Amino acid sequence: MNSEGRLKNAREQLIIALDLPRADAAIDLARILAGDVSFFKIGLQLYTAAGPEIVRAIAATGARIFLDLKLHDIPNTVAKAVTAAAELKVAMLTIHLSGGSRMVEAAVAAAPPELLLLGVTVLTSSDEATLLETGINRPVAEQALRLAQLGAHAGIRGLVASPHEVVALRQALPAGMSIVTPGVRPSWAAADDQKRFTTPREAIQNGADYLVIGRPVTAHADPREAVRVIVSEVAGS
Ligand code: C5P
Repeated sequence: MNSEGRLKNAREQLIIALDLPRADAAIDLARILAGDVSFFKIGLQLYTAAGPEIVRAIAATGARIFLDLKLHDIPNTVAKAVTAAAELKVAMLTIHLSGGSRMVEAAVAAAPPELLLLGVTVLTSSDEATLLETGINRPVAEQALRLAQLGAHAGIRGLVASPHEVVALRQALPAGMSIVTPGVRPSWAAADDQKRFTTPREAIQNGADYLVIGRPVTAHADPREAVRVIVSEVAGS
């Protein structure tokens, strides 16, 4: 879909990060947003606190689930975890591409067609010094591109990327890769700890397929209104 088409599709592209400490708060918010949001992200904090039951409970509100567990282990263990996530009917699941080709291939082989595996390249909390201390002596952008290409060769169909990386990734990778970008902030929202962000509309214009947004919605006094404003800003209406 071209940029114009994607801008009009904002409601289906928005993924709200349920970065909350407890199941009851997450379920309350998902119920408030039901009908306005098609996708929720459940990450390490909530999953560790509330387990697979929280995935079922959020899915029961009618939304699709992005399970952000950033798997990184031996190929057999990752493949088994992918199978377990598929049984929970999640729609997206993250794995670390730094696990290498064999790990990524094992994950891809275990994922049914309806589960989109997303590869994580270099975390935005890492800089060149972080890479160097782990023995990687090259700029972050180069390492991110290398891992994205490794993922593509191993069969991955989706990536998590910063909105600033999307244009370069689109040029370097095969067509049809789905790109999910966190690190977006509407102009009216606090930056929180995000540093190199773009607005949601800019991220879609750069070529992102999905946006992950947390605190501008979850910490807003009226989360439904926040979602509606973001959707209309992306659509340009
Ligand atoms: O609240 P906020 O909009 O900053 O939340 C962004 C979400 O995206 C969080 O769940 C965060 O962990 C995740 N994320 C990110 N930057 C990355 C990767 C993931 O902000 N590079």
